[in-house]
Amino acid sequence: MTKIITIDGPSGSGKGSVSRLLAKTLGFSYLDSGALYRLLSIAASRHQVVSNNQKGLKSLAEHMDIRFETDDEGGLIALLEGEDVTLEMRTENTGELASKIAGHSDVRSALLKRQRLFATGEGLVADGRDMGTVIFPAADLKIYLTASIDERARRRYKELLEKGEDVSLRALAEQVRARDERDMSRDVSPLVPAEDAIELDTSNLSIEEVLETILDFKRF
Ligand code: DC
Repeated sequence: MTKIITIDGPSGSGKGSVSRLLAKTLGFSYLDSGALYRLLSIAASRHQVVSNNQKGLKSLAEHMDIRFETDDEGGLIALLEGEDVTLEMRTENTGELASKIAGHSDVRSALLKRQRLFATGEGLVADGRDMGTVIFPAADLKIYLTASIDERARRRYKELLEKGEDVSLRALAEQVRARDERDMSRDVSPLVPAEDAIELDTSNLSIEEVLETILDFKRF
C-alpha cells in the first residue's frame, strides 16, 4: 500500500516548499494539486472557456493533456499540451482564476480521479486544500499548515520579486485575504483542516523546522 501524507493549508503557508522537501527526504512522489487547478485555468484561457462555463471546464479537466517533470533543483516543470507553462502557472493571475474555477463541483470531481492516480509506489506527499478531507481521507498522516496573513503575504512577495513580478506588498496581502475567503467559504470541498489533521502554525518557523516537526510526527 502506498503511504500517503497530506499537507493542506492556505496559500503562503509553506506547504509547497515543505511538501517537496518532505517527498525528497522520504523518497516519495509528490502531488502539487494546486498545479492541476492552475493548469486547468491556463487551458481554459487558451481554449476560451470562461470561468462560469461548468460543462466546458469539466470536459477540459477530464481531458487536458498535462505532464509534470522535475528540474535539476527538484522544482516542478509543468507541461500543457507539450508546452512548458511553468512560469505562467505561478503568476498571481493564474492563481486567482484557479481559485475561481475550483469552486465548481464538476471540476473538482473530474480532478479528483486524476489526483488519486498519483498514489502509486512507496509513498506520496499530497499538497493542497482538500487532500486530507476529500482526496485522501484515509491518509497515514495529515498536516494542516497555517501562518498569519502578513507573513504569508511577505513570503509571496519575496517569491514573486525573485521571479521578476512587479507587485505591492499591501495589494498582495489583500489578494491573500480574498483568496483565503473564497477557498474557505466555497460550498464544495472548502479549505478546512481534516478532523484528524495535526495543525502547525509556520509563521515563525523555517522550512527546515517545519520539515523536522513533520518527520517527528511520522509513525510509519
Ligand atoms: O496552492 P495553489 O496556490 O497553487 O492553488 C491555487 C488555487 O487552486 C487555490 O486558490 C484553490 C485551488 N485549489 C483547490 O481548490 N484545491 C486544491 N487541492 C488545490 C488548489
